Amino acid sequence: MKRLVILISGRGSNMTAILDAVGGGKIAGEVTGVISNRPDAAGVAIASDRGVATVSIDHRAYPDRETFEHALTAAIDVHAPDLIVLAGFMRILSAAFVDRYAGRMINIHPSLLPSYPGLDTHSRALADGVRIHGCTVHFVTDDVDHGPIIAQAAVPVRNDDDATALAARVLEAEHQLLVAAVGWFCAGRLVIDGARVRVKNESGDVVPLIVPAPDLS
Ligand code: GRF
Repeated sequence: MKRLVILISGRGSNMTAILDAVGGGKIAGEVTGVISNRPDAAGVAIASDRGVATVSIDHRAYPDRETFEHALTAAIDVHAPDLIVLAGFMRILSAAFVDRYAGRMINIHPSLLPSYPGLDTHSRALADGVRIHGCTVHFVTDDVDHGPIIAQAAVPVRNDDDATALAARVLEAEHQLLVAAVGWFCAGRLVIDGARVRVKNESGDVVPLIVPAPDLS
């Protein structure tokens, strides 16, 4: 059983998807702790209701990034985790912090990286008129929202989408994608090969997503 620590900043729906998958036996791991940088994050209450140890480390209580990360490191290391999952964790992390957990920290990002790193991904995608948007799970490196990509989900952009509708559709895909990636990690199926990640024995069963769907009749 791999030991997982999840870092959150808010609602915690991606965290909840992992907890559900662990509870349902879809991930060969246990979530030993959830850490939030916001004490009022809704996800903290959800995790603690499910009996998961939670800690809040309010970044505003620390004079600088270094002291905040020192506290964060201590809270993580007490769990001796195999994997740290950034699930909507909205703090930039220093190179020293990232290096400490190299190869065992992953992030979910709401765009098809390398397009739209950073914030406001959905409105930026709509402004550019893309027809396919999505989300990415990647290993974390000190280049924010970069790092070897484990998996991506493509999501169609609909004519009447606004940022809220598009975000909701991407979020559903995020939950599936993150659960799959964490499951592969826990099963020992991820191999980092330079900038690329291989999933051992991955299914070759993929079809193109064409948006709008072609009229073939
Ligand atoms: C997700 O869209 C995640 O990709 C982004 O922030 C959102 C967090 O949602 N970085 P939740 O807290 O997992 O519900």
